[in-house]
Amino acid sequence: MKHIIIGTNRPDSNSKKVALFVQKLYEQKGENVELLDLADIEIDQTHGGHFGGKTALPQKLHAAIESITSSEGLIFIIPEYNGSMPGVLKSFIDYWKFPQSFEGRPVAFIGLGGLWAGLRPVEHMMQVMSYRNAYLFPIRVFMRDVWKLINKEGLIEDPVILGLLNQQVEGFQKFCRALKSEGLDANHLNSKRPH
Ligand SMILES: Cc1cc2nc3c(=O)[nH]c(=O)nc-3n(C[C@H](O)[C@H](O)[C@H](O)COP(=O)(O)O)c2cc1C
Repeated sequence: MKHIIIGTNRPDSNSKKVALFVQKLYEQKGENVELLDLADIEIDQTHGGHFGGKTALPQKLHAAIESITSSEGLIFIIPEYNGSMPGVLKSFIDYWKFPQSFEGRPVAFIGLGGLWAGLRPVEHMMQVMSYRNAYLFPIRVFMRDVWKLINKEGLIEDPVILGLLNQQVEGFQKFCRALKSEGLDANHLNSKRPH
């Protein structure tokens, strides 16, 4: 199972609308992909005591990290907040397991924003994922003035953006299959680690 990470906990977010639309594109290509919504994961209720495994994580956060750590591929939907990614998204990642959540994990990126279309937060996240040895899928999608690109029904009809989203979906499916077929993917690497 792949997972789409909704990269904010802002109510009524455009990120969630994009995530739901991308989920439908995967469905059209015969694949069920699960949403991980940061608004549902209780990240705000965490505190420093959880770092380093000293106290148990809240149940929903624990479950979300387990999903990440066994995912066949992660699709990040990242809005631009003050020239970078939302703090809640980085907080979430800082609870992931190292190296199991990251190493060999196939990841794809969709950026949302105003004038710069989410280029900065995506490139910041690419640095993080690259540093932690994930496999970065090269076709990214950037949605400039994102609020103009989603209609009232939650559809994205702009032909360029729609074409890129479909290209990313098809390509990322193949990318994940290719890594898996050679045993390079994170789930294979984790299966070889001592327990
Ligand atoms: C706290 C905050 C900071 C923002 N900072 C930027 C920014 O630096 N650059 C930009 O292009 N858009 C910025 N925006 C606009 C958002 O990228 C845009 O509204 C997008 O829809 C937000 O995603 P969301 O609806 O998923 O929260 C900001 C929005 C918020 C809420």
